[in-house]
Amino acid sequence: MRSGSIRIAVVGNGYWGSKHVRVLSSLPDVDVTVVDVVDERLAEAAAYYPAARFARSLEDVLDDIDAVVVATPPAEHCVLTALASEAGKPTLVEKPLTTSVEEAEILVESAERNGTVLMVGHTFEYNPAVWKLKEIIQAGSLGRILYINAQRLSLGRYQRDVNVVWDLAPHDLSIVSYLLDDIPSAAAVWADRNIGIRHADVAYLRLDFERAATHAFIHVSWLNPNKVRQVTVVGERKMAVYDDLSDNERIRVYDIGVDPRDVDEPGASHAMPVSYRTGDITSPYIQFQEPLLLQDRHFVECARTGTQPNTPGQRGLDIVRVLAASDVALATGRRVDIHHNRPSMSLLPIVGHADAREPHPA
Ligand SMILES: NC(=O)c1ccc[n+]([C@@H]2O[C@H](COP(=O)([O-])OP(=O)(O)OC[C@H]3O[C@@H](n4cnc5c(N)ncnc54)[C@H](O)[C@@H]3O)[C@@H](O)[C@H]2O)c1
Repeated sequence: MRSGSIRIAVVGNGYWGSKHVRVLSSLPDVDVTVVDVVDERLAEAAAYYPAARFARSLEDVLDDIDAVVVATPPAEHCVLTALASEAGKPTLVEKPLTTSVEEAEILVESAERNGTVLMVGHTFEYNPAVWKLKEIIQAGSLGRILYINAQRLSLGRYQRDVNVVWDLAPHDLSIVSYLLDDIPSAAAVWADRNIGIRHADVAYLRLDFERAATHAFIHVSWLNPNKVRQVTVVGERKMAVYDDLSDNERIRVYDIGVDPRDVDEPGASHAMPVSYRTGDITSPYIQFQEPLLLQDRHFVECARTGTQPNTPGQRGLDIVRVLAASDVALATGRRVDIHHNRPSMSLLPIVGHADAREPHPA
């Protein structure tokens, strides 16, 4: 890579790609090229970022850039990323990495063969509130994790090329896998299509985490009256709720629980079979830092230095395997085992730049 400014092409200036353009344009020594097939999207970007460069196709600018961010609809991720990777360009791909396991494997293999950085945009793994939640879990104060429940609901943006599981659940899959330092070994799904004929718009997933010896439940919906972004971790001793929409109490730790109680005396036969423990509700201070900014800064650093990112392509492949298993589970109505052919990246030491996950609890 040449010294001085790094030239990054953001491919897809839609809802999310435009945020990458904003964040990357704010970083020192980053020159942004906006690529979109729709002229209006280029004109919108030109109005805000006159210093940027613009193009209708990645191929047209490949020789004039150093790295690529792919923020197109998921069905286009594989072709664009393969193009960038084969040209030796470090690439950050939005979630989900691809729309099939085969495509994800091709991209991971291509990046390895070409010795280029491949990173997946699992934004919540760059979220200080998620780091704090992991710190709390790892400190053991919640006790044994009984289960995790995640909800990502709103009157959402219906997608053309993927169902609600592939669109929204990558976030929760990456969060729970990161929190537990494990990846799901089996998935069961219930999903329904309420609007239109194409894709399920409401889904519930059950994920088994063998090594962490616990379960996670994920509820995703494009058809919900209010916006909910919550992860609840239920431990044997305490419980924690991460509410991504809260301004100043994004994590609350509840010092409450339930213990079993033997009721032997006949006179107490109507007593509860459990006893309740109640205590304080506390909320740790979490300084707000925009996760996308932390993520993209980490990508720039990895692209400059060739360092393995904290969320490498392999991690994107892990999540795509779970999503593909969810398709089989949905089609068969059965619980599906997920075979990861290697140790999970989350079990491997993290070698990324400290800046991106500071203070990283792992
Ligand atoms: N990390 C997050 O929190 C987050 C949030 C939302 C979306 N996303 C992801 O970002 C990606 C984009 O989603 P979106 O909601 O912004 O979609 P979008 O439809 O709003 O935007 C996609 C853009 O890509 C352009 N495009 C399509 N094919 C192209 C090509 N071959 N070359 C150049 N431009 C092309 C379209 O014209 C459009 O402007 C998806 O993978 C989505 O899952 C991530």
